[in-house]
Amino acid sequence: MTLDSVPSVPITLTQCAKTFRGTRVLEPLDLSIGAGETLVLLGPSGCGKTTTLRMIAGLETPDAGGRIAFGDDDVTALPIERRQVGMVFQSYALFPNLTVRGNIGYGLKIRRVPAQIARQRVDDLLAMMRLGAHADKPIAQLSGGQRQRVALARALAVQPRVLLLDEPLTALDARLRDSLRADMNALLRELGITTIYVTHDQAEAMELGDRIVVMSEGRIEQIGTPRDIYYRPANRTVAQFIGTLNRLAGESRDGVLQTTGGAVPLPSHACAPRMHASHASIGHDAPHELFFRPEDAYLADPASAHLRGTVEHASFLGERTRLTIGGAAPDALLIDVAGRVELARGTPVGVSIAQDALIALS
Ligand SMILES: Nc1ncnc2c1ncn2[C@@H]1O[C@H](COP(=O)(O)OP(=O)(O)OP(=O)(O)O)[C@@H](O)[C@H]1O
Ligand SMILES: [Mg+2]
Repeated sequence: MTLDSVPSVPITLTQCAKTFRGTRVLEPLDLSIGAGETLVLLGPSGCGKTTTLRMIAGLETPDAGGRIAFGDDDVTALPIERRQVGMVFQSYALFPNLTVRGNIGYGLKIRRVPAQIARQRVDDLLAMMRLGAHADKPIAQLSGGQRQRVALARALAVQPRVLLLDEPLTALDARLRDSLRADMNALLRELGITTIYVTHDQAEAMELGDRIVVMSEGRIEQIGTPRDIYYRPANRTVAQFIGTLNRLAGESRDGVLQTTGGAVPLPSHACAPRMHASHASIGHDAPHELFFRPEDAYLADPASAHLRGTVEHASFLGERTRLTIGGAAPDALLIDVAGRVELARGTPVGVSIAQDALIALS
């Protein structure tokens, strides 16, 4: 089913900084969100995700000089009720004294939408969110997942131009989160509404985001598609925040990085002469460290493998086994192999890394 929503708009933040009582919590940030795009703000606690979202909602004002536009409308000075945004908070903030129907229809009532139209719209949303059987229950009788869907339906009822979601799944247990994440994904694709989704859960960010903004300490570290962020992290902060990363340290010469248990070929982008922005000179800064993901390594004949080491630990995880390999690099390496592979502790192994999977980080 479809809901006749207003056309989605692009959003532009220009030099939006935020200072609370003399403390700068957000550095001036520039951000463009395409019409209909789902942009995820990802980062550790306190990095400024909610503050950014609240500025877009109209619940906080950026410091002087910051500007927020929805399409061609400059909304910087508009309060939340005039921005046409739908918002879902981590806590849901539902009205406990109203029924499901009452909660979803609340915004329509406030806006004096004619009763028949409002009723139809609430019925559509109840169906869309699979809440029909609960329509007349008070909020207190709903499960966490049902409450989350009521909050989403309430945000959508007023036909927002922009949907703002602040950790909407965080309050739920792990299983429910996984299934609602898939529902959420389907729903956002179907609605095609410009959405900003805040989370500190990388799996959520990967599944839901058309693009992800990785933030840390009030700054944007990287903006990119989930694949960009995962395979081409801009720096260590991003790389360490997303997924698991192995480190190979040693000396590089003659096109290889020599480390404890062998050598790996330097990735082509790491050997090219590079301009040093700070010195404006050309240098060959061959890396002392390279990184790779556990799933990008494979077991190989020790005689011809890049690295040699021994199995220190094997964790069987069902579809895969995660091996801890010692002696191959200064740090133990984590590598993923098929679940059926069984290797005892102390087994000598060869480990090679897939071509193009080595990452050099600044
Ligand atoms: N109203 C406020 N007054 C003073 N400081 C604030 C206020 N709101 C947020 N801060 C501070 O701004 C910083 C960013 O907060 P914000 O809520 O945006 O973080 P967050 O990324 O959403 O974190 P979390 O994942 O924990 O929700 C924090 O250091 C926080 O203490
Ligand atoms: Mg927050």
